[in-house]
Parts: sequence; C-alpha cells; structure tokens
Amino acid sequence: MSVPPSVPPAAVPEGSRAGHVSVPDLPVSELRSEELRQALGRFVTGVTIVTCRDGHGAPVGLTANSFNALSLDPPLVLWSLRESSSTIDAFTAASHFAVNVLAADQIELSRRFARPSSAKFDEGQWTDGQGGAPLLTGCVAVFECRRRSHHPAGDHVLFIGEVERIGGAASTPLVYHAGHYRTLSE
Ligand SMILES: Cc1cc2nc3c(=O)[nH]c(=O)nc-3n(C[C@H](O)[C@H](O)[C@H](O)COP(=O)(O)O)c2cc1C
Repeated sequence: MSVPPSVPPAAVPEGSRAGHVSVPDLPVSELRSEELRQALGRFVTGVTIVTCRDGHGAPVGLTANSFNALSLDPPLVLWSLRESSSTIDAFTAASHFAVNVLAADQIELSRRFARPSSAKFDEGQWTDGQGGAPLLTGCVAVFECRRRSHHPAGDHVLFIGEVERIGGAASTPLVYHAGHYRTLSE
C-alpha cells in the first residue's frame, strides 16, 4: 500500500530529475517525514478520486493515490484517508464509496479534489452510483464498493471495500510520481 501524500506530496528538488537523486540511507531515528515522503513518492501510482455521500446526502470526495487491489475472490480494494480530513465522518459512516480512476486529461479535476473546498462537485459531470456515491464522467475505471470495514492505522484510516459494480471508459490513465503528474509513454 502506498502512503498517501495527505498534504500535497513533496516534489523532487528543482533542477534534479526524479530517479537521479539517491534516497538517503537512514535509520528511522534520523528519518525526517520529508525524506520518508520523497522515498515513498518513488512508487509510481495512478490517481483516483474517492467519493461517497455524507449523512445529509451531500456529495463528498477527495483525490487519493493510496488505492490498491486487495483480493480477487471476494473482490476487495483498499485505500487510506488522513484521519484529520474533513471527509472522515462521511466515509466512516457511508455504506458505499466509489473509486474513480482518473484519465490523463483530468489533472484539473485531481487538483480541485486535492484542496479543501465545499464546491468540489459544482463543475464537471457525475451521476449517482451505489449508495449515491458520485461516479465522475470520463474516468478510465470506476469501482463501486460497499464499505466492508475500516481500520485506524497511525494518522490514517484504512478502508476496505467490496466491489459491487465496475465501469469506465477506454482512455489513457493519469500517473503520479515524485510529486508530479505524468502520462504514460510507451
Ligand atoms: C496525488 C494526490 C494523492 C493523494 N492521496 C491521498 C490519499 O490517498 N489519502 C488522503 O487522505 N489524502 C490524499 N491526498 C490529499 C487530499 O486529496 C487532500 O488533503 C484533500 O484536500 C482532502 O480533502 P479535505 O481537504 O476535504 O479533507 C492526495 C493528494 C494528491 C495531490
């Protein structure tokens, strides 16, 4: 599981290309969170927006790259949410969440959902999925999940969902590496 950059992830320093700066060899007693985040950022991920409905029926969501596959039979996925997120009460109470895997042309959407805002859903197209969780139009894949369990873990809460429906459009995925958005090139 990748540790999510709950504050926007540290980019590789200006003037140095990702992969060209060594990860320092450090024991945990000397490790600063910045160095840990930079090392974790070397793990390439996709980008998702995870959504649900809060107790008043309002749509809720955030950008997350901690999403991962967990089990095929039964079909389980996981992701983790910073405990101090404004969305924590909604996700721990909601029966369902949806994981929207972003396409390369959805960087602006990713940025919008990575900032605190009450207007995240004011622009762009979306429809209701299982349990009312918003399904964003134009994603490469969508996983509609029933929340199976959630587990406090350090400063995050780990969510495990059982996939009830899948969908998505054929297009190029958005990629995230070393604090930067990237696209795949063959
Ligand atoms: C590429 C990227 C990936 C992120 N992944 C996560 C994640 O997996 N879990 C998390 O809690 N925050 C993650 N964040 C940070 C949240 O998107 C951000 O803190 C957001 O503002 C949270 O919503 P809130 O402000 O309404 O609490 C990520 C941000 C970016 C840019």
